[in-house]
Amino acid sequence: MKFWSRPTFLLILSLIHLITIPRVYSSSSPTLSLPEHFLRCLDTQPADHNSPNSRTAVIPTNSTFSTNLMAAVRNLRFASTSTRKPEAIVAAVTETHIRAAISCCKLLNLELRIRSGGHDYEGFSYTSPVPFVILDMYNFNKIDINMTDETVWIQAGASLGELYYNIASKSKVHAFPAGVCPKVGAGGHFSGGGFGNLMRKHGLSIDHIIDAQIMDANGRVYRDRRSMGEDVFWAIRGGGGGSYGVILAWKIKLIRVPEKVTVFKLERTVREGAVDLVWKWQQVAPVIDRDLFIRLEIKPINRKISKGKTIKVSFIGMFLGLPERLLNITKQSFPELHLTKSDCMVKKWIESTVFWANYPEKAPIQLLLKRISTNEYYWKRTSDFVQTPISKQGLAKIFQTMIDHSPLPRRVWMQWNPWGGKMAEIESDATPFVHRGGNIFMIEHFMNWYRPGDELEEQFLAIARSFKEAMAPFVSKNPREAFFNYRDVDIGITTPGDNATYEGAKVYGDSYFKGNYLRLVKVKARFDRTNFFRSQQGIPVLA
Ligand SMILES: Cc1cc2nc3c(=O)[nH]c(=O)nc-3n(C[C@H](O)[C@H](O)[C@H](O)COP(=O)(O)OP(=O)(O)OC[C@H]3O[C@@H](n4cnc5c(N)ncnc54)[C@H](O)[C@@H]3O)c2cc1C
Ligand SMILES: *[C@@H]1O[C@H](CO)[C@@H](O)[C@H](O)[C@H]1NC(C)=O
Ligand SMILES: *[C@@H]1O[C@H](CO)[C@@H](O)[C@H](O)[C@H]1NC(C)=O
Ligand SMILES: *[C@@H]1O[C@H](CO)[C@@H](O)[C@H](O)[C@H]1NC(C)=O
Ligand SMILES: *[C@@H]1O[C@H](CO)[C@@H](O)[C@H](O)[C@H]1NC(C)=O
Repeated sequence: MKFWSRPTFLLILSLIHLITIPRVYSSSSPTLSLPEHFLRCLDTQPADHNSPNSRTAVIPTNSTFSTNLMAAVRNLRFASTSTRKPEAIVAAVTETHIRAAISCCKLLNLELRIRSGGHDYEGFSYTSPVPFVILDMYNFNKIDINMTDETVWIQAGASLGELYYNIASKSKVHAFPAGVCPKVGAGGHFSGGGFGNLMRKHGLSIDHIIDAQIMDANGRVYRDRRSMGEDVFWAIRGGGGGSYGVILAWKIKLIRVPEKVTVFKLERTVREGAVDLVWKWQQVAPVIDRDLFIRLEIKPINRKISKGKTIKVSFIGMFLGLPERLLNITKQSFPELHLTKSDCMVKKWIESTVFWANYPEKAPIQLLLKRISTNEYYWKRTSDFVQTPISKQGLAKIFQTMIDHSPLPRRVWMQWNPWGGKMAEIESDATPFVHRGGNIFMIEHFMNWYRPGDELEEQFLAIARSFKEAMAPFVSKNPREAFFNYRDVDIGITTPGDNATYEGAKVYGDSYFKGNYLRLVKVKARFDRTNFFRSQQGIPVLA
């Protein structure tokens, strides 16, 4: 072998490899495991100078495998021993590494799951029912801010917290409308919509994305929207990146915020009039001044004085202005809330993101940069959209049903997020995100638990499903709409290569995208014809 130069040797090796791999793997080389084949394959692919592709990969026999896997598992339900583990994790540093991972997944018939922040509600970015590889994007976390034209190129693996922190280090009056959890990744969040407390004034993250870069199943990189095509650029802003390609980076346009904003959190129990307040909230929160966003958190709690349970509602507010104007607005439109000056906390926008992330009061903004989590738990979360205000009787019934479904200390609970404002002005086909005008608020359903065990899991999932069933009369119908970024397998799944057809995937396609579903399928058929980028809730290629 020393007679050959290294490139020639690699070329020969890769030819042998290409020709023999499927057969070698199936029978004649029992000594090499599938992960080892994958590692070998990576090094037969074109590599960057002096940087073997396999150096970015870990396989299950490597002692660091588990740490790598768990670094971004946000829901411990998908860390159980019965969950299938990847054959390898590729922590790509360059595009060459991504290209090699794609090629080898094709050669070895593995699925590729792309993980940016790991927040997928059903773990689709790090689990699969079939043998697969994780492409971990966390090294792709560059954030380039141009204050001249107020734009940012942000790589897919960067987190929202990193984005917010970097914006604030350049300006006190710029921000970006996106989610409240700082560890969420730009890759999944932006490709599914991205909503947060600036949405009534500014809309979703996708409404401020002006360009993107993506790699397709052939390893080809498209550096801007023109080269990928406007149809693909449309699809990846809300239709899910995971069905189209590997999103490498987004170009976003910043928005302006006042130097100081106001936040508040008020709590009211049923005794303190929570039913009437929530009823009134439905009338005002979606139409009030769009500088004001008031989220509700509705939770069963133990009564303080007498026995039994009651409901506590938190009104959590974000106001793009100072308390004087805020109090003027609430006195006029929502006097029942009795918001007072002492409830108001005046903060810089970046400090407000720390408040919304539920970090302790006065926590340093450096916490926004923290990516690894140490205190994750088990959960199921889903969504609903409400288009008709719920009556007071309806609300009382919902509260009682929540209590009945809450074997305290565990409980079902909800967040209600007001729509309206800018959300109602954007056409429902401007992006794949279809839930615009006509919605008054979105519900997020929560069920959290803290101990492992299949039986426990079954029990909690059953409670969560039963509660969701009981909510059916109050929420959108035909289809019962759901937010793609709050992915829920109960809506329906398909199996690629089997029933992942236009008709099969329509069950979730309708709930997530309604009239935009067909257009997503057409884009898929053009851009990822072989369905390389697939999952249990993928967009199918047109039959
Ligand atoms: C604690 C928590 C708080 C949240 N808060 C909000 C919120 O305030 N607002 C909101 O809108 N949503 C929120 N979400 C939902 C969140 O937006 C979605 O789960 C989102 O998909 C997560 O993106 P990610 O990159 O972190 O997740 P991942 O699990 O890495 O990815 C999610 C999906 O996108 C795909 N994907 C990821 N990266 C890429 C890429 N580079 N190219 C192509 N496909 C890719 C994955 O394959 C997967 O299917 C929250 C979720 C959690 C767990
Ligand atoms: C484990 O993976 C790391 C990172 O890729 C690598 O440096 C190390 O050599 C691997 N160890 C073994 C035993 O393969
Ligand atoms: C920033 O944007 C301006 C205006 O579009 C442009 O002229 C300039 O080259 C950009 N700067 C960098 C560093 O890209
Ligand atoms: C509050 O409302 C009053 C009466 O509508 C108005 O005169 C005043 O300017 C408002 N103050 C602020 C700070 O908006
Ligand atoms: C597709 O098949 C899977 C089993 O592989 C099944 O669970 C699912 O319900 C099927 N989906 C549809 C829409 O038929």
